[in-house]
Amino acid sequence: MSANSSGSATYSGTLDGSNAKRGLWSSRLAFILAATGSAVGLGNIWKFPYVTGENGGGAFVLIYLVCIAVVGIPIMMAEVMIGRRGGHSPVNSLRLIAAREGLKPVWRMIGAVGVLAGFLILSFYSVIGGWAVSYVGTAASGQFAGQSAEAIGAIFSGLLSDPAALLLWHSVFLALVMVVVARGVRSGLERAVSILMPALFVLLLIVVGYAMTSGSFGRAAAFLFQPDFSKLTTSGILVALGHAFFTLSLGMAVMMAYGSYLPKNISIAKTSITVSVIDTGVALLAGLAIFLIVFANGLEPGAGPGLIFQTLPLAFGQMPMGSLFGTLFFVLLIFAAWTSGISLLEPIVEWLEEQKGMNRTVSTLGAGVVCWALGIVSILSLNLWADFAPLGFVPMLEDKTIFDLLDFFTANILLPLGGFLVAVFAGWVMSRQALENELSLSAPMFRLWYVTIRFITPVAVAAVFLYNLA
Ligand code: PHE
Repeated sequence: MSANSSGSATYSGTLDGSNAKRGLWSSRLAFILAATGSAVGLGNIWKFPYVTGENGGGAFVLIYLVCIAVVGIPIMMAEVMIGRRGGHSPVNSLRLIAAREGLKPVWRMIGAVGVLAGFLILSFYSVIGGWAVSYVGTAASGQFAGQSAEAIGAIFSGLLSDPAALLLWHSVFLALVMVVVARGVRSGLERAVSILMPALFVLLLIVVGYAMTSGSFGRAAAFLFQPDFSKLTTSGILVALGHAFFTLSLGMAVMMAYGSYLPKNISIAKTSITVSVIDTGVALLAGLAIFLIVFANGLEPGAGPGLIFQTLPLAFGQMPMGSLFGTLFFVLLIFAAWTSGISLLEPIVEWLEEQKGMNRTVSTLGAGVVCWALGIVSILSLNLWADFAPLGFVPMLEDKTIFDLLDFFTANILLPLGGFLVAVFAGWVMSRQALENELSLSAPMFRLWYVTIRFITPVAVAAVFLYNLA
C-alpha cells in the first residue's frame, strides 16, 4: 500500500513505488505557503475587484462565496488527494490511480486538459504580470503624482498600445517564473514562497490601512457586501463560478501537482480549508482597499481589466508618499502573480521531467519558451489586433479579442470542466476505501465531503453551465 507515514523529504510511497527521489515539501507550512502562493494572485488583486465591479457588487460576491464553499473547497481537497495518492505529475497520478482501480487510462485526460489550461492561462497571465512589473517603475519615478484621471488613463493606454514594451515586461515576468521553477521544489518553489508570501501580507495590510483613511468605508463596504440581486445576471453567475476556480487554482492540475509533493502525514482537509480561507480573505481585503479608493475619488467601479491600473494610480498620485505606496502596491502585485505563475508552470515541467526524462532546467526552458511565444498573441490583441474578434459570430463573444477569449475559455469553461471531472473521478470512480485512506477524516466529516463531491459539486457546476446555455 502506498501509505508511508513519515514526513521525511523523500519517500517511495507512490502507487508504483517509483520515483523514490522526488523532493517533498519540508512541512505543512511550506505546503500552505506554496498553495496559498498559487491561489493568491492576480485573480485576487486584479481580477476579483474588476469582475465584482462589472457585475454589480454584493450579490456577485455572495454567489462567489457560495461557490468557494460548495464547489471550491471540496474540489481542492479532491485535487490534493489525487496528487498525493498518485505521487506523480497530474497526468501520471491519474493514470496510476485509474489503473489501480481497474479503470481505463483515459482518465489521465483530466490531467492533460488541466495542464493545457494552465499553459494557456500562463501565456496571458504573464502579460498582465508584465503590466505590474512595468508599473513598479512608473510609480517609483513619481509619474502618478498630481496627475488627472485622463493623464493616468493615458499612461495605461500608452502601455497597452506598445507591443514592444509589453513584450519586454512579459519576458521579464516569465523569466522570473522560470528561474524559480528551474530550481526545483525545495530550493526554488519553497524558498521563494516563504519569502514572498509574508512580504505580500505585510504590503497588503499597509495598502488597506491607507485606504481605510480615505473615509468612504460605508460605501465600499455596502458595494461589496450588500447584495442587490437585480444587478446579477446569468452570465454573472458563470463568472462567479469560473472565478472561484481561477482564484483557488482549481481545475487545472496545479493542486494535484502540489499535492504530489505533500508528505503523507499532513491533513488534506485542514490545509485545503486554510488555503481557501486565506485566499478569500485576501480577495475581500484587496477588494475593500480598491473600492475604498474608487469611491473616495468618485471613480467608476465597473472600469474593467484596467481598474487597478487606472484607479489606484490616481489615488497614489494624490496621497502623501504616494510614489512609495504605489511602488509597494505594484511590488505586492508582482509577488502575488509570481508565486501563481510558478504554480502554473510547475505541472507541465513536472510532467516533462517525468515523462520525457528531461532534466528540470531543460523542461522549464522548453515549456517557458513555448508559453512566451503564445503570450505574443495576447500582446498583439491588446493593440494591433484589438479590433479582431475571431468568434464575432457567436452571441456573448461578439466583441472579445483573442486575449479576452483566452481568459473567458480558460476561466469560465476549461476550469469548471476540469473541476467537474475531478469531482466525478474522486466521487464516483475512486474507491471509497482509497478516499478514506488518503483523507483520513472523521466519519461525519468524510460523509459531508463525500456527499458534496458526489452530488452537490457536480450538480452545481453542471447547472450553472446549462443555465448559461439556455
Ligand atoms: N489562482 C491564481 C490567481 O488568483 C491564478 C491561477 C489559476 C494560478 C490557476 C494557478 C492556477 O491569480
